[in-house]
Amino acid sequence: MDFLTFAKDRYSCRALSDRPVEPEKLERILAAALAAPTACNNQPFRVWVLQSPDALEKASHATRFTFGAPVILAVGGLPSEAWVRPFDGRNFAGVDAAIVATHLMLATHAEGLGTTWIGYFDAGQLKADFPEMAPYDMIALFPIGYPAPDAAPAKGHFACRPESQLIGRL
Ligand SMILES: Cc1cc2nc3c(=O)[nH]c(=O)nc-3n(C[C@H](O)[C@H](O)[C@H](O)COP(=O)(O)O)c2cc1C
Repeated sequence: MDFLTFAKDRYSCRALSDRPVEPEKLERILAAALAAPTACNNQPFRVWVLQSPDALEKASHATRFTFGAPVILAVGGLPSEAWVRPFDGRNFAGVDAAIVATHLMLATHAEGLGTTWIGYFDAGQLKADFPEMAPYDMIALFPIGYPAPDAAPAKGHFACRPESQLIGRL
C-alpha cells in the first residue's frame, strides 16, 4: 500500500474487541515511536505502556475514552529537556511528543490494530494516579486493540475543509 492510501485508510477506531494484542506487535509500535525525529534529537518524551489491570483501571479514572482496550499508551513531552528556539523562546516538547504520538498512531494501523488519539483526559487525575508522569506535558492517550467487528469510521472522518483553506500556495 502506498503511503497516501495507507494514511487515508487509517481512521479513529472507537470500537475495540477484547482480543489480546501480541507482544511483538506492541514492540514494533514502540520501535516506531523511538524512530520519531525530535528537535535537535533531544528526545524529550516518554511513552508509558499501560497494560496491567491496575494501570488500565487508573487510566479510566482520567477519561471515558478507553474503549475497553487491552493496552493504552500514554505520551508525554518533557519541557525541561526540549529544544527551545532562541528567536522567540518557543519550547518544542509538545511538538516532539506529537510527532512520537503520530508515529505510534500510524504504526498501530500498520499492525492491523485500531486506536484513537485521545486528548480528552484529565491530566491532573492521570498524574495523581501515575506520579512518574508529573513533570511531563501529557498530550495523548492511545487505547489500542483489534477493531471490533462493527468498527467503522465516524462521520467526522470524512469531513474535510476545502483544500484552499488548508494549503496556502504562495
Ligand atoms: C489532538 C487530538 C485529540 C483528539 N482527542 C480525541 C478524544 O479525546 N476523543 C475522541 O474520540 N477522538 C479524539 N480525537 C480524534 C479526532 O476526533 C479524529 O481524528 C477526527 O475526528 C478525524 O477523524 P479520523 O481520525 O477518523 O480521521 C483526537 C484527535 C487529535 C488529533
